[in-house]
Amino acid sequence: QSTTEIDISAIQSGQAIKTSWRKQPVFVRNLTPAEIAEAKKVPLSDLRDPQTIDERTKPGKENWLITLGVCTHLGCVPLGAAEGENRGDFGGYFCPCHGSHYDTAARIRKGPAPKNLVVPPYEFNSDTVVTIG
Ligand code: FES
Repeated sequence: QSTTEIDISAIQSGQAIKTSWRKQPVFVRNLTPAEIAEAKKVPLSDLRDPQTIDERTKPGKENWLITLGVCTHLGCVPLGAAEGENRGDFGGYFCPCHGSHYDTAARIRKGPAPKNLVVPPYEFNSDTVVTIG
C-alpha cells in the first residue's frame, strides 16, 4: 500500500504515536506550545542539518510533527514516541543504538546521525485525518 490514512484526533498535546507507512515506522507527534517555542529559538547555525520547524510542518499546523521513525545513522527506531520513553537531551527523540539525540522538531542535535528524521510526504484531508504518501 503506497498511502496510509491516519486518524490523529486522539493524540493529545504532548503525545505521539507510532504508525507505519511502506513498512517503515512513522511518528506522529502533537507538539505542545512550549515544544514549538523550544524548536523556534534554536539558531540555524547550531544545527547539523539546518531546517526551521516551519520547513518540517504544514502552515497553520505546526504542532503536528510527522516523521519517519528511522534514525538517519544506521536505521534503528528511536525512542520517544511512546508514553514514558526517553526523549533524549533535547526533548524530541533518542536513538539508543549509538546515542543520537533529536530535538522537538526531530532535528539531529547530538550523536552520530548526520540528518534530521525524514519528513515523509503527507497531506491533511481534514483537521483530524492525515494521508501519508
Ligand atoms: Fe541511531 Fe546509530 S542507528 S545512533
